[in-house]
Amino acid sequence: MSSSRRFEGRSVIVTGAGSGIGEAAARAFAAEGGLVTLADIDAAGGQAVCDAIVADGGNARFVQTDATDEASVRAMIDAACAAHGPVRHAFNNVGAAKLGSLEELSLDDWNWTVTISLTSTFLAMKHEIPVMKANGGGTIVNTASMSGRIFTPSAPASYSAAKAGVIHLSQYASCAYAQDNIRVNSVLPGLTATPQIASMFTLEQQAEVASHHQMIHRCVQPSEIAAAVLFLSSDEAAMITGRGLEVAGGGAHPG
Ligand SMILES: NC(=O)c1ccc[n+]([C@@H]2O[C@H](COP(=O)([O-])OP(=O)(O)OC[C@H]3O[C@@H](n4cnc5c(N)ncnc54)[C@H](O)[C@@H]3O)[C@@H](O)[C@H]2O)c1
Repeated sequence: MSSSRRFEGRSVIVTGAGSGIGEAAARAFAAEGGLVTLADIDAAGGQAVCDAIVADGGNARFVQTDATDEASVRAMIDAACAAHGPVRHAFNNVGAAKLGSLEELSLDDWNWTVTISLTSTFLAMKHEIPVMKANGGGTIVNTASMSGRIFTPSAPASYSAAKAGVIHLSQYASCAYAQDNIRVNSVLPGLTATPQIASMFTLEQQAEVASHHQMIHRCVQPSEIAAAVLFLSSDEAAMITGRGLEVAGGGAHPG
């Protein structure tokens, strides 16, 4: 159990919580006293992470959710509020990509990637913000990517454009809702050692990307992204909003 309890008794949502970065963040929020709603489309994966958190003494529940479906997102947020009280902290983390060069990318693959990586962020914020507004405020962190800020050759155009959209959407919302005491930031992971990356790149490719595009030549660990998410969500970051925080081993040199 963490000695720091920055989220004691607070209602927290983490999407994409069944694996990788979302799993690490859900575990970290719960370890600091958060009442965590884990949302994921994968019922088995999400429930397993939830069970592990509860077994460790945390307070968590899993709600199967399709982050690209508005009714599903709305129902998950309602369930979170009913179980844990009004949502105070949200980590909107779902995103994915289908690979292919700009010329090869089909319209279906473009739409799939933009929907899962950007539209999911819009849908989550659309329904989280009214709850926060009505209850004195809150914090939102959205998962973007270094690919949304600079050109990374391994990322498709659809994903890069969608993640740039996540950075800007976060900034937009931070301006629009600052007077409602809602802070909105994004995190920009570098290459992070998660199941999604393992399914897309061999270990050799991962090592090559990390050494060519990061000053620190290794993959980021999911727990290192989670630490940044918790900081941005915490009261320690009370004057930080509208920022995109790179957690990427020193970032990447452009091109
Ligand atoms: N891993 C990296 O190197 C890296 C780098 C930059 C950004 N990111 C971003 O970090 C986020 C998390 O990625 P990860 O590497 O941890 O991936 P992951 O595949 O390990 O986890 C993603 C989770 O999201 C869930 N999910 C997928 N589609 C969903 C949907 N429609 N509704 C609800 N849940 C859904 C999956 O079931 C899975 O549990 C993504 O937004 C990704 O784009 C990852």
